[in-house]
Amino acid sequence: MKDMLERLESRRAQARLGGGEKRIAAQHGRGKLTARERIELLLDGGSFEEFDMFVEHRSTDFGMEKSKIPGDGVVTGWGTVNGRTVFVFAKDFTVFGGSLSEAHAQKIIKIQDMALKMRAPIVGLFDAGGARIQEGVAALGGYGEVFKRNVIASGVIPQISVIMGPCAGGDVYSPAMTDFIFMVRDRSYMFVTGPEVVKTVTNETVTSEELGGAKIHTTKSSVADGAYDNDVEALLQVRRLLDFLPANNLDGVPEIPSFDDPGRADESLDTLIPDNPNKPYDMKELILKVVDEGDFFEIQEAYAKNIITGFGRVEGRTVGFVANQPMVLAGVLDSDASRKAARFIRFCDAFGIPIVTFEDVPGFLPGTAQEYGGLIKHGAKLLFAYSEATVPLVTVITRKAYGGAYDVMASKHVGGDVNYAWPTAQIAVMGAKGAVEIIFRADIGDPDKIAARTKEYEDRFMSPFVAAERGYIDEVIMPHSTRRRIARALAMLRHKETERPWKKHDNIPL
Ligand code: HXC
Repeated sequence: MKDMLERLESRRAQARLGGGEKRIAAQHGRGKLTARERIELLLDGGSFEEFDMFVEHRSTDFGMEKSKIPGDGVVTGWGTVNGRTVFVFAKDFTVFGGSLSEAHAQKIIKIQDMALKMRAPIVGLFDAGGARIQEGVAALGGYGEVFKRNVIASGVIPQISVIMGPCAGGDVYSPAMTDFIFMVRDRSYMFVTGPEVVKTVTNETVTSEELGGAKIHTTKSSVADGAYDNDVEALLQVRRLLDFLPANNLDGVPEIPSFDDPGRADESLDTLIPDNPNKPYDMKELILKVVDEGDFFEIQEAYAKNIITGFGRVEGRTVGFVANQPMVLAGVLDSDASRKAARFIRFCDAFGIPIVTFEDVPGFLPGTAQEYGGLIKHGAKLLFAYSEATVPLVTVITRKAYGGAYDVMASKHVGGDVNYAWPTAQIAVMGAKGAVEIIFRADIGDPDKIAARTKEYEDRFMSPFVAAERGYIDEVIMPHSTRRRIARALAMLRHKETERPWKKHDNIPL
């Protein structure tokens, strides 16, 4: 008996070594942790239960039968994050570069199936070179199975990917179908094919960082939702994000004890809006003053900064925030901002997370660059996402709500449940100057007349009251009471039910 126990211990010890001490040292030398070290940091201490530690590949091509490593390049299992069940798989770069064999794929698939069956989130830690080249179509088939499960689980359980090393092929396509992607700066890359293949095919000379580093994917391509300085920081932030997320699409948002008074007034908000309507102010200040304990988890912070998206809590319950940012491009809606916000709204709606919208938007960005880039289609995504959402929608217009953007940003007309405006709100088709220059074109040569007309237009329309008189705004509220108003609205909306006609699925303009 003792022998058997010792044999188990020795087999376990061998499996834990992955690709061996030399490769582990090389992994550390590159500033990266090993798959198991990462899992230890992600999960609550001692909570990890590993599956399939002894699985090996079955390939016999290219001499592969001589190099078998228990675990086959991926560590899988489950554990808890602050007591809540989470499934996890972590690619082990020390074993065949973390590449995916048929057996390796079966391990991931098992975890995906269990996560879905248990309706619990799944986190993938990626550091891998895609399909195992020696296995050919067997590996490609394995990826297909993984991809299909990504899609079936989408909108049912949260799926999070963390890119922690060079990733290519299937190790970027699978993350691309999950809800959130985070990267580690300076040592993680995402590309369909690496710089060498790029050089061969297109004759372009490019570094890994330029082709698919964290900066590119968080600022330019918008493939990734956030970047962190190292493995430890990235994993701690994933724990923080998981605390905001429901376990699945039926569970409802998590509720954590809050010591922040929901009725807390903030007098400084009464002076947040500058006297000059063209002067910017920081919308993040409003968000941070409204959420519990100033705790806000921003998604896509570095991309399309003219709109802010992220999670906060009100009365201990998760809320998704979408807010125009007057500090960047005056908060205008362009293609990038529309896509960013639409995707966030759809995540919230799929998982029953109420959405609070703070609005200060001068309209959609005009011009050929935007039109050629498909602004109509991308703007429609945002309009579509808000209109199809059935979660509670609370909107606060702080200043400008002009034109189509007024309709789009969770107006009453597209489904806003509670729509508030600050006294500084200006709800109109466009700014007074532009409006007067169109409807009083004949007076353009007469500055006095134009000034009088502009004043007249401002007095009549540049306020929340025309909309409030029609009931498009439920109430004009004091800025300092915004947190209390939102908390009460969300409490009232908690059991909101909306009927929609049956359909297989919608056809959002992709
Ligand atoms: C088998 C692989 C491998 C792979 C890396 N390795 N990728 N083995 N299959 N796909 C092995 C290397 O041979 C090496 O083994 C070890 O892992 C470390 O790799 P290095 O190249 O030394 O590391 P690095 O220089 O950091 O480069 C990492 C890399 C690069 C950028 C990931 O290895 C790479 O480009 N790999 C190939 C990527 C690729 O084209 N994959 C197929 C994609 S197709 P030794 O023993 O020498 O240390 C795909 C299909 C999915 O995934 C379909 C999508 C729709």
